[in-house]
Amino acid sequence: MEGALTARDRVGIQDFVLLDSFTSETAFLDNLRKRFRENLIYTYIGTLLVSMNPYKDLEIYNLKQMELYMGVNFFELPPHLYALADNAYRTMLTEYNNHFILISGESGAGKTVASKKILQYYAVTCPSSDQLQSVRDRLLHSNPVLEAFGNAKTLRNDNSSRFGKYMDIQFDFKGEAVGGHILSYLLEKSRVVHQNHGERNFHIFYQLLSGGDDELLRWLGLERNAQKYCYLVQGECAKVSSINDKLDWRTVRKALSIISFGENDIEHLFGIIASVLHLGNIQYEGDGKSGNAMLSGNAELRWISKLLGVPLVALQEALTHRKIETSTEEVLSPLDVDQAYYARDALAKAIYGRTFTWLVKKINESLENQDATRKTVIGLLDIYGFEVFSINSFEQFCINYCNEKLQQLFIQLTLKSEQEEYDLEGIEWEPVQFFNNRIICDLVEQKHKGVISILDEECMRPGEATDLTFLDKMEEKIGNHPHFVTHRLGDQKTRKTMERMDFRLLHYAGEVTYCVIGFLDKNNDLLYRNLKEVMCQTRNSIIKVCFEFLELDNRKRPETVATQFKNSLMELIEILTSKEPSYVRCLKPNDAKQAGHFDDVLVRHQVKYLGLMEHLRVRRAGFAYRRRYEIFLQRYKPLCPATWPHWHGPPAQGVETLVKYIGYKPEEYKLGRTKIFIRHPKTLFATEDAFQICKNELATKVQAKYKGYKVKGEYQRQKQAAIKIETCWRGVKARKDRRKREWAVKVIKKFIKGFMYRNQPLCKENEEYLTFVRHNYLTKLKDHLPKNLLDKSWLKPPAMLEKTSELLHKICLRNMVRKYIKGIGAPRKAQMQLKVVASTLFKGKKEGYSQTLPKPFADTRLSEQEINMKVLQMIRNERIKYGTQVVKYDRNGFKPRSRQLILTQVAAYVVEDAKIKQKVEYSTLKGVSVSSLSDGVFVIHVPCTDNKQKGDLILQCDYVFETVIKLCTLANKQGVVKVVQGSVKFMINSGKEGIIDFSTGQDCAIYKANNGHLMVVSLSNTLLCGIKHFK
Ligand SMILES: Nc1ncnc2c1ncn2[C@@H]1O[C@H](COP(=O)(O)OP(=O)(O)OP(=O)(O)O)[C@@H](O)[C@H]1O
Ligand SMILES: [Mg+2]
Repeated sequence: MEGALTARDRVGIQDFVLLDSFTSETAFLDNLRKRFRENLIYTYIGTLLVSMNPYKDLEIYNLKQMELYMGVNFFELPPHLYALADNAYRTMLTEYNNHFILISGESGAGKTVASKKILQYYAVTCPSSDQLQSVRDRLLHSNPVLEAFGNAKTLRNDNSSRFGKYMDIQFDFKGEAVGGHILSYLLEKSRVVHQNHGERNFHIFYQLLSGGDDELLRWLGLERNAQKYCYLVQGECAKVSSINDKLDWRTVRKALSIISFGENDIEHLFGIIASVLHLGNIQYEGDGKSGNAMLSGNAELRWISKLLGVPLVALQEALTHRKIETSTEEVLSPLDVDQAYYARDALAKAIYGRTFTWLVKKINESLENQDATRKTVIGLLDIYGFEVFSINSFEQFCINYCNEKLQQLFIQLTLKSEQEEYDLEGIEWEPVQFFNNRIICDLVEQKHKGVISILDEECMRPGEATDLTFLDKMEEKIGNHPHFVTHRLGDQKTRKTMERMDFRLLHYAGEVTYCVIGFLDKNNDLLYRNLKEVMCQTRNSIIKVCFEFLELDNRKRPETVATQFKNSLMELIEILTSKEPSYVRCLKPNDAKQAGHFDDVLVRHQVKYLGLMEHLRVRRAGFAYRRRYEIFLQRYKPLCPATWPHWHGPPAQGVETLVKYIGYKPEEYKLGRTKIFIRHPKTLFATEDAFQICKNELATKVQAKYKGYKVKGEYQRQKQAAIKIETCWRGVKARKDRRKREWAVKVIKKFIKGFMYRNQPLCKENEEYLTFVRHNYLTKLKDHLPKNLLDKSWLKPPAMLEKTSELLHKICLRNMVRKYIKGIGAPRKAQMQLKVVASTLFKGKKEGYSQTLPKPFADTRLSEQEINMKVLQMIRNERIKYGTQVVKYDRNGFKPRSRQLILTQVAAYVVEDAKIKQKVEYSTLKGVSVSSLSDGVFVIHVPCTDNKQKGDLILQCDYVFETVIKLCTLANKQGVVKVVQGSVKFMINSGKEGIIDFSTGQDCAIYKANNGHLMVVSLSNTLLCGIKHFK
């Protein structure tokens, strides 16, 4: 707290509880004065705020100040109205309960200003959405409207509240101001028709005349001059320097639109205000003979008739006559002049009073919160303050009675009940004496014996009851009450200060002398029936609501004004006692509305009657804070591990454990029977701060838990969903599989049936099967066709397709052959033809043939360079077709000689270097013999008749097949080639024959055998294959 103080704030003591001489009134006043001089108008007594009216604008209500006090602990900053407002608001939010702020003090002490500042504070600092902005605006703008119609300048206060106002501000759980409700209490209607000297009528009349534009005034039949209106001139102070009616008019006009008054309503409202002014100007004169009242003119009447929408004649009659009802008939009785003025004024008061009630209702409708969820409220009570004038009437009596009631409530809630509570709770306590104003409240309100009861009795009793008989009755019934005195009952000294018509009450705030004149009338608040009837015929929408035909039928006597007021105050007290209180006690520094002037006597008086000293003593000796164990434990249990999260024992023990754990010193608290009492606020604030920190930690924990819980829930939901999807999917899959299986069974069945019927002619049963078999075979066949012509493989067909397969095989072969043939060139063709010849001659006849198959026949084995030039020249023109190296065996002796065998177009030549040793023309070629073995020996047979020929040629060549084939194809004599088993005969010449024997052996050899034959040994076939393999 100290840390936040500036040097200026340190003036005096901010909280009277800290005052050393706390029993001294002088010290109390000194502190107030000291602070007032420094413009420090607020001082605490514990949590109660004492406010001193500065009568000047101080820079302490701006946005910066509001922000400073927002959410800060009560005692951390210098005393301020905002601190109190903020504290109530925060407690409301955390404890979720209802509050009220009781603002009390005498007239002009600053109650209305304080309540407006609090409302502004909430409007600015509470969280709000755009939607709620309009609610806040309406709450704020309800003030200027109600003040215009319900406030007036009095001798005590230029803006004195002439009605009581209790306003509930409703908050939702987030702390947003979501709505409001206003209760109004007893408007001082008599002011409409009469004002004391130095006072004014309600502001709205002056505002309309100053601010209303010319057209409006013309429409209302008004002149811009308050002096012209009887109801505005009695106080002789229509102009007040502190009031700017013109500006206020604009504010009110704007506020009316914001609070959603329709143009029609506004028009009718001003029509009513103007009608009241016109009513006031109605003058009567007495009829000479009868003395009956007659209207002096009817200009005003016409305006009233127009503005209120009532028939002129009926209105005129009602203002001059009274309807008297007997059991059989209704009689119109003329009024005398006084009675007529009384009727006129009664009408003016009724119209204005009821319009004010309508206005409050209308504002309430616009503030109403539509949302039905639970709200907490903060109530602001701003009621007319205690007032004393030179002449005090029924209104002051009611106002001061109201202040007595509020003082009683304050005493109940602070001094009396507090001390009783200590007793009840068994807390040691030395009682503080205080003045209990219960006795005065009883004097006013007690049944049968109270002033109000006596007044009602007088109003209702038959016979001639007057204000004086009422005074007599009071003297009779309460004459010996210590707080009541009259001129007759008073002593000498008292009599000097009182008139015979007066009675005096010794109020808690001082003596007030009331003049009884008008008490009965005002209490009865009578309006003649025919005036009500005329009003019921109105076309003015507001008057229509205010005067209902139903009222005319109700023959029950209405409650008197005082009783109504008493009952409404009882209700108010009930409303307030159900809420948590905060108090603002307003003081005024002087009676002259002057800034900077501190009237010691006046302030001392207020301090006394407001009971501030007693309050201080109780605060000082007592405890700043108390709470039931359950509530205290519930809130602060997180601060102690033993009590968190649950305490299972009795709450009192729980609280004891808790406070010991958090380290309360014994002198700081006391434990009562049901509550804990904490002496200093700072102890509680420290606890609250600790709680806030702990709350954040707990919130984090709770958040984490909740998040976990949420995620877990989400996970479980997802899992359930996954299982469900899985189940569904499995179902779908199983159904699909089942269908598949069913299908498969059908197909298989069909297949089997088809298989069984496969050999039957095409029928329904085997139709598909056969198609399948066909399709299957053909597709398989497609992948297994023979790769080439030599590949003899062919996919075995099912029985039904054998023919097809055969045809296909043929086509395939033909196709391959075609392709093959197309791919063969001329040289290869020639080669192939030779191979075909070789095949027909040797295949299966001579060993070694199959080994030569893959080797193509060469064109020649001798190049031209290898042939001797001479030989070449000799045979060139015959065109050499083939040449190879051979071994020639002599026919006699079989001597081997190396020779070249050259085949031309026409003959075969055996050549030794440049010599042609032997020429065999093809035309003479008789035969060619080879053995069936693998040797390379061949014999060319020539005719022996020819002497030129030397005989058959025995040749041996490595390429026997190739050479023999070339020879016989060139000679075009394939038929002459013979493969001989065993021996070959050959002609030597001149008819001699030789023999060549062929056999197989381990080695190849050619030699002359003993029998004179040529022996040719070749390798056996098995050896031949082995060699080939080995190679
Ligand atoms: N805090 C303040 N700062 C400045 N001026 C103030 C303050 N409080 C009151 N005043 C002045 O005192 C005047 C009277 O105050 P206010 O109307 O609030 O009195 P009240 O207690 O409501 O009186 P009543 O009981 O007659 O309605 C205000 O018009 C204003 O000029
Ligand atoms: Mg006021």
